[in-house]
Amino acid sequence: MITTRQSGIRLARRLDEVGFSDIVQIRNKVMAMRAEGLPVYSLHGGEPFFETPDEIKFAAVRALVENQTHYAASSGILPLRQALVKKLAVKNNISVTTDEIIATVGGTQALYATFQSVLDPGDDCLVFSPYWTPIGDLITGAQARPLLVPSVTARRNGIRSTLEQFSTPKTRAIYYNTPQNPSGLVFTREEAEEVAAFAIERDIVVIADEAYEDLVYDGSHFSIASLPGMAERTITTYTFSKTYGMTGWRGGYAVAQEPFMSALRKIVLYSTNGVTTFVQHAMIEALKTPESKIATLREEYRKRRDLLVAGLNEVGLDCAPPAGAFYAFPSVEKINKNSRTAAQILLEKAHIATIPGSVFGAQGEGHLRFGYAIPIAEIEACVDALRKFFK
Ligand SMILES: Cc1ncc(COP(=O)(O)O)c(C=O)c1O
Repeated sequence: MITTRQSGIRLARRLDEVGFSDIVQIRNKVMAMRAEGLPVYSLHGGEPFFETPDEIKFAAVRALVENQTHYAASSGILPLRQALVKKLAVKNNISVTTDEIIATVGGTQALYATFQSVLDPGDDCLVFSPYWTPIGDLITGAQARPLLVPSVTARRNGIRSTLEQFSTPKTRAIYYNTPQNPSGLVFTREEAEEVAAFAIERDIVVIADEAYEDLVYDGSHFSIASLPGMAERTITTYTFSKTYGMTGWRGGYAVAQEPFMSALRKIVLYSTNGVTTFVQHAMIEALKTPESKIATLREEYRKRRDLLVAGLNEVGLDCAPPAGAFYAFPSVEKINKNSRTAAQILLEKAHIATIPGSVFGAQGEGHLRFGYAIPIAEIEACVDALRKFFK
């Protein structure tokens, strides 16, 4: 913490434990290499390989021309929430009213508002690990403590008994991400039932993050809030970023009943006062995307997954095909046991940019995250570079 003795200026203590993305440092190194004219294969990112579809862009342009540039309801415009009611019923088997949905600035704001609404200082929150890095910071930013539950152990020994083992009397919530970033793990309906039984027994809140709901290759996506007794204790967060190629638009939403919704509304009101009005019109258009188009995109991702996973296994980086999301998470102990060192070696010697597994929690150590939401030619070039590196 930086303090100035003369003025006493200091930062709020609740930020002391909050980190700033390691991933940004890797991005900076990649940019520096590119500036030197070196080729770099970009497997460090998490953005869809396609541009935002034109009809979504035109909907935003139309909304701008029609002066949808004023303040809107801070929880989201009604037609958007009505479209989401339908989507949630059809796709997630979650039955809600428009009052149980709030539009947010990306999935990130939905998660921020959720953790701020649920956790008090000193509370504990269970997190399956490896986990998406910002979650740890969102929890510590609420002055609570993440309790890391190794996903692999939980699957092997039983989800419910493992959660019981890692839980404390101060456990107030569990963060449940499926499909998972970075491992690609997709929880089954039976596993969701175990998490639900545990949450009901302990009377805790489930924070369900379904950012990658449309990207499941093996099995199917199941929303935990659709289980009996769960809608009232689950806050589910979604994003338009991944399914619709809309990362920069910052569109997302959260689904919850009272008392959570009143809290989410306060946090959204006082942080952004809602989502940019014309972006909400683009979100309505995105929701009109036919399921067949989403299925075609999913097949495109599957091709990329299979190509990368085959290449990784060929060079001896053991990798089971991830069931969902768009990341492969192989063991890289063959390069170096320390994943930061392994990432550095791969970047400097093979020009392949990845993310060290340790940034996703202790359970990620010994692994690297390879994002495969990139053009097929770039995956092929990366696999070639791997072959040369291991020769
Ligand atoms: C697991 C997970 N949840 C939520 C998000 C939030 O995405 P956004 O803020 O772009 O909507 C991401 C983005 O990478 C993610 O990986």
